[in-house]
Amino acid sequence: MNYQWYPGHMTKAKRMMQENISLIDLVIELLDARVPLSSRNPDIDDLGKNKSRLILLNKSDLADAESNKRWMQFFKEKGFYVLEVNAKTGQGLKAIQGMVREACKEKIERDRRRGIKNRPVRAIVVGIPNVGKSTFINSFAGKACTKTGNKPGVTKGKQWIRLNKELELLDTPGILWPKFESEEVGCKLAMIGSMNDEILQMTELADALVAYLLSHYRDALLGRYQIEENGQSLTVREVMEMVCKNRMCYKKGQEPDYEKASALVIDDFRSGRIGRITLEEPA
Ligand code: G4P
Repeated sequence: MNYQWYPGHMTKAKRMMQENISLIDLVIELLDARVPLSSRNPDIDDLGKNKSRLILLNKSDLADAESNKRWMQFFKEKGFYVLEVNAKTGQGLKAIQGMVREACKEKIERDRRRGIKNRPVRAIVVGIPNVGKSTFINSFAGKACTKTGNKPGVTKGKQWIRLNKELELLDTPGILWPKFESEEVGCKLAMIGSMNDEILQMTELADALVAYLLSHYRDALLGRYQIEENGQSLTVREVMEMVCKNRMCYKKGQEPDYEKASALVIDDFRSGRIGRITLEEPA
């Protein structure tokens, strides 16, 4: 399958970040905990160099709890500040403030030496589409936030959200498009819903997902669709046939409706109904 690539948007998003990066102390990078590497854009390391960095593994509620721990360790070892969060419920967000202070301690100390008091840390939130940037900003900023209006040097129309006296967020989330290093990366991003479904072959995508689940989350998959193994190993096609049968996905004349069954499996995966699933592990 050919996965879409967005060079036009990418250029615009990059320009927006480059224009604002000099005003930023801290880059908060949201990753999807189910695909922490595939949901990263490697350009962010370049754009955010010399800035404090905080990685949030968002949608951690949908990812495998054990894998979350391994990814936390992985990013810590790479020198990042990192937290597991759920932007939707707000879980994990309380720890951010302390970590921001820790990540920006050099800047805070520098300000103090220069006699600058109460200059808040300024942060930008970046991430690929659908990773949860808007949800995060809304949950994190909550109702208490106030827009502080334009600041000199900031691109016209940019707003800062003052969270408290220590932290301000640039209210436009930086949209980054992932770098599709391989078809596999594109496929994983399609599975989590970071790509327009209209361009995707849902049956192909569901087959790839089922193949992965069969080898990594077999019990969760078979349990969800009440499939019994009867001693022999199941193929992807057999699983999809059983999904059609058990979920009444038929076209006229009792022909299995694989498109419908595929959409159902993908939707079940995306919303966590098959279980907490991570699609990639640290090397
Ligand atoms: P974006 O700005 O980065 O494009 O993402 P956005 O905040 O719009 O979030 C995309 C979807 O992900 C939303 O679901 C949102 O509710 C969901 N989401 C964000 N963070 C989390 C999380 O930590 N856990 C879970 N389970 N979901 C999360 P939606 O289906 O588009 O909307 P809704 O049905 O939730 O209202």
